[in-house]
Amino acid sequence: MAIMIKTPQEIEKMRRSGAAVRDVLEHVKARVKPGVTTLDLEVAAESKIAALGATSAFKGYRGYPCVLCTSVNEQVVHGIPSNDRVLRDGDIVSIDCGVVLDGYYSDSAITVPVGAEVAPKTKRLLDVTKASLETAIKVVRPGATLGDIGAAVQEVVEADGFSVVREFVGHGIGTRMHEDPQVPNYGQRGAGTKLRAGMVLAIEPMVNLGKPGVQVLSDGWTAVTEDGSLSAHFEHTVAVTAEGAAILTQ
Ligand code: MF3
Ligand code: CO
Repeated sequence: MAIMIKTPQEIEKMRRSGAAVRDVLEHVKARVKPGVTTLDLEVAAESKIAALGATSAFKGYRGYPCVLCTSVNEQVVHGIPSNDRVLRDGDIVSIDCGVVLDGYYSDSAITVPVGAEVAPKTKRLLDVTKASLETAIKVVRPGATLGDIGAAVQEVVEADGFSVVREFVGHGIGTRMHEDPQVPNYGQRGAGTKLRAGMVLAIEPMVNLGKPGVQVLSDGWTAVTEDGSLSAHFEHTVAVTAEGAAILTQ
């Protein structure tokens, strides 16, 4: 499938969709504290999405049951919100949300500490994963390549001894949640498809504190680290413009 090029008008619509996702994530983040369940976060997100006049990009997607993915500790991505999962002081939780507004999708994720007892190494994992996304976004401009994005993520992550997850990748996004191209979080500078103005990409590094391997649990969704180590995930929806990257989900 060809990579879709968006008009400035379409990117403006995606910016409004992205602002809605940001509002939802802020709303949910403010509710993260010890004793709260991941289902509490789901309920807060669902009402916020409705209040914004948007709909969920996730609920019903390939049968996914919720509007959020809430991935705690060694869960990498696609954790399903549950009344049985109580957040504890010292946990980390990735909150991933996608919405549709006026026909356009946006997708963003953050990973946040729960309470005040997060270990320094854990805090470092969050900071480095976020920095890897920010560094990758800085290389986005017409003429840069997908390999430049992957290499940027990989360098930041591996410089700290953490590892990049290979099994899941970022993606093009627009009138569908997943469009071409795939956007790996590893690669070689100068390799791969060249970026053009009007492309919109969801860039989403997933970073493990230990080894890179992941496996999917028997619920068919929850991806966890094979070695049980902690994992973090940050994501932005980003447009390629003549001037460089425009982050649509902030
Ligand atoms: N950010 C994830 C992705 O881009 C979220 C998908 S969750 C799903 O693939 F439930 F919708 F599949
Ligand atoms: Co995504």
